[in-house]
Amino acid sequence: MSAPHDAVADSRAEDAAAPELSGVPLLEVKDLVKYFPVKSSGVLRRTIGQVQAVDGVSFTVDKGSSLGLVGESGCGKTTTGRVITRLYDPTSGTIMFEGNEIGQLNRKQMMPYRRQIQLIFQDPYSSLNPRHTVGTIVGTPMQVHQTVPKNKMLTRVQELLETVGLNPEHYNRYPSEFSGGQRQRIGIARALALNPKLIVADEPVSALDVSIQAQVVNLLQDLQKQFDIAFLFIAHDLAIVRHFCPRIAVMYLGKIVEVGDRDSIYLTPHHPYTQALLSSAPDVRQAAIGGRRERIRLEGDVPSPVNPPSGCRFRTRCWKAQEICAQEEPPLLQIGGREVACHFAEAMQVVAATEGDIAAQVEDDDRAPKLEVG
Ligand SMILES: Nc1ncnc2c1ncn2[C@@H]1O[C@H](COP(=O)(O)OP(=O)(O)OP(=O)(O)O)[C@@H](O)[C@H]1O
Ligand code: SF4
Ligand SMILES: [Mg+2]
Repeated sequence: MSAPHDAVADSRAEDAAAPELSGVPLLEVKDLVKYFPVKSSGVLRRTIGQVQAVDGVSFTVDKGSSLGLVGESGCGKTTTGRVITRLYDPTSGTIMFEGNEIGQLNRKQMMPYRRQIQLIFQDPYSSLNPRHTVGTIVGTPMQVHQTVPKNKMLTRVQELLETVGLNPEHYNRYPSEFSGGQRQRIGIARALALNPKLIVADEPVSALDVSIQAQVVNLLQDLQKQFDIAFLFIAHDLAIVRHFCPRIAVMYLGKIVEVGDRDSIYLTPHHPYTQALLSSAPDVRQAAIGGRRERIRLEGDVPSPVNPPSGCRFRTRCWKAQEICAQEEPPLLQIGGREVACHFAEAMQVVAATEGDIAAQVEDDDRAPKLEVG
């Protein structure tokens, strides 16, 4: 991998001169809400409801660190990432970047922050313009933000291509001439072009062949270390998230239900939804309970985010639900070094303390979900 290019070096020098923001997280999201209006058909197109895609989400990402965001399809991961990068405006809540509120900034005010917060998309096919050369794709952000003089642009583009493991001589080629993994590397080079401090990586490897996924994840890890970049890493694949992120946030139907460090979340999940989600990843579950592969199969579908259940949103599928779960929304509370949103989280803490107890307790419960033991 090549040495950091000039733009990175210049910008790092600027950072060194900037006052140190000690104790302030790089990103702090508080009570973030994003609703999409549901319109009636016909001419008037009145708003008849709201898709509550993200509903009161709070978390932090420290400089140079990674937070993994996991959860079933439709739980609001992409929407969260897009609001943070300001591709969508938040409905309410705050997005603090290095202590500055960026959630309400207009397009022009956002410009300096856009350089620092970049997005890597899931699909390396649709996210690259097929009519543009690689040179144009990677060079355009630097041109728009005027971070590199015209006469140095080609050199910079080539340095970036080399940094992501592509042949620097291929700057004149089109995306169609590259494989999926190579295209994702082009997307990564584009995200790196402005020397970001935070990258929101939305399922960055899920569209790639399994054999290529590890290479791209390793590349992202190398780049993170080399350039001290923080990641919000959105993924379905729990093994990849576990590998990449020291902290994990679990989402269900627009809410964060559990946040904590990787080992406590994966080995002793407290929230029933986290337990079910992890049990669906055999390698993770196997490691947690000493070789037995057990699966908690959730009953029913994820409810509609237009009309989510009252109280705890997970209650319609939760085998631990009690009356209070329909009446009161459980707040995200600090419990044993992690945060959990469940009325019975403390009891779960006791249950999860001994590995294997989760499965035993589920078996004892007459409303227990089906278990698959293989
Ligand atoms: N632009 C939009 N307009 C209306 N509803 C939307 C829009 N974008 C997302 N939604 C809805 O918001 C909810 C959350 O979607 P989102 O794409 O954020 O989920 P996700 O967790 O990223 O899912 P996946 O794992 O499938 O990518 C879904 O119900 C989705 O249909
Ligand atoms: S609050 Fe109730 S319904 Fe929600 S996860 Fe906890 S036990 Fe289940
Ligand atoms: Mg998504």
